[in-house]
Amino acid sequence: MSNKATIQLENQTFEFAIIEGTEQEKAIDISKLRDQTGYITLDNGYKNTGATKSAITFLDGEIGVLKYRGYPIEQLAEKSTFLEVAFLLIYGNLPTQQQLTGFQTEISKHTLVHEDMKKFFDGFPSKSHPMGQLSSLVCSLSSFYPESLNAHPTAEEFDLTIIKLLAKMSTIVSWIYKKSLGHPYIYPQNKYDYVTNFLNMTFGQRTEEVVIDPIIVDAMNVLLILHADHEQNCSTSTVRIVGSSDCNLYASISAGISALWGPLHGGANQAVIEMLEQIKNDGGDVDKWVNKAKSPTDSFRLMGFGHRVYKNFDPRAKIIKKACDDILEKLGINDPVLDIAKKLEEVALNDPYFVSRKLYPNVDFYSGIIYRALGFPTEMFTVLFALGRLPGWIAQWKEMRENKEPIGRPRQVYVGEVDRDFVEIGDR
Ligand code: CMC
Repeated sequence: MSNKATIQLENQTFEFAIIEGTEQEKAIDISKLRDQTGYITLDNGYKNTGATKSAITFLDGEIGVLKYRGYPIEQLAEKSTFLEVAFLLIYGNLPTQQQLTGFQTEISKHTLVHEDMKKFFDGFPSKSHPMGQLSSLVCSLSSFYPESLNAHPTAEEFDLTIIKLLAKMSTIVSWIYKKSLGHPYIYPQNKYDYVTNFLNMTFGQRTEEVVIDPIIVDAMNVLLILHADHEQNCSTSTVRIVGSSDCNLYASISAGISALWGPLHGGANQAVIEMLEQIKNDGGDVDKWVNKAKSPTDSFRLMGFGHRVYKNFDPRAKIIKKACDDILEKLGINDPVLDIAKKLEEVALNDPYFVSRKLYPNVDFYSGIIYRALGFPTEMFTVLFALGRLPGWIAQWKEMRENKEPIGRPRQVYVGEVDRDFVEIGDR
């Protein structure tokens, strides 16, 4: 096979290199297209555009494969912890015991947030959405740690920023939850591992030590691992593109959090439960809602179905579906929205509209049901997604910087008015 692609334009032939990834993904390198031909490509939503070469996550949406640094998601979800996966994503290899202990210890030293940050929590109205709070609070870390503004830190300085962000994020997320309840904040405790510490700050009481059920710790680890990275999605691309202007890590991640908030992306986990509740309260007629989703004149979509890159079962959804059944059984929870979810899944998976468009349940279809079983309010779901995605965002930002990628700046095809002369206001 030729390693060149040819494009014919205006009776001229141009050649472009073909690039092949380690998993045999092929791309045409058009980085010189405009210089050579005067043309650009147009690809709304970047459906066919590779924005970077990356060695972090591989996914094949046609057959439903997801790997972090070459390790299948199924093995990581079964055998590792969230912190091990975070290390793997950020530094490229699974940690040795010594590296993992060192990573955990360093994180434990930085879990406290500056006492002045509490004023930010106090300042948010009690009904403000946790994602808005999270985005603002993460951005505000750049004010507390101005050394992060250095666009060219040493490796040690950068590592410290990473550790601080991982450490403080779990405290910030827990405190957002406590704020929503009006309960006192619980301070981090170094004796716990990352996930137990997070759950203790979230569900603990000030006066007594709360013993977190290991079933809940395990479920939380799995959920965070499954969300830890997903290559160049909307929020990750946002993090990379914001960081490409030499903007600091905290502000770049804060932008990613905002991108994740939308219901077409991470916000879908909240939207799924709200939709299931709506269907239940409407009498539970699943067919009626499936028909609404299929109607070209109705903007309603089945939340938790479909994915930009998976045209097969989302491998994360398979793992999470099983985890969901297990946790509900172990905790003895009988959730009526689960019955609606199961019915909806069955109807949609057999309906020609969904089958022909390859619309399968995605990770968000089940994650909300587990978060709910663990006791989290609906508005916290996307914040938990963000906590899980943090190592992936950091890894992608680090890779982008280490590869010295240029500032992200797409072009456009202008379709507006041409050459108009200004008209005085009285003459318009
Ligand atoms: N319900 C009904 N129809 C749908 C749905 C849905 N959930 N998703 C896609 N379609 C239809 C869509 O109307 C279109 O039909 P047609 O060809 O007749 O115009 C076709 O399927 C292709 O859809 P698209 O919007 O072109 O696909 P996309 O790749 O641009 O969008 C998506 C992907 C995830 C935004 C979309 O499937 C969707 O809105 N899903 C619901 C929201 C959701 O669950 N998002 C979470 C994604 S997983 C978490 C994450 O990684 O972000």
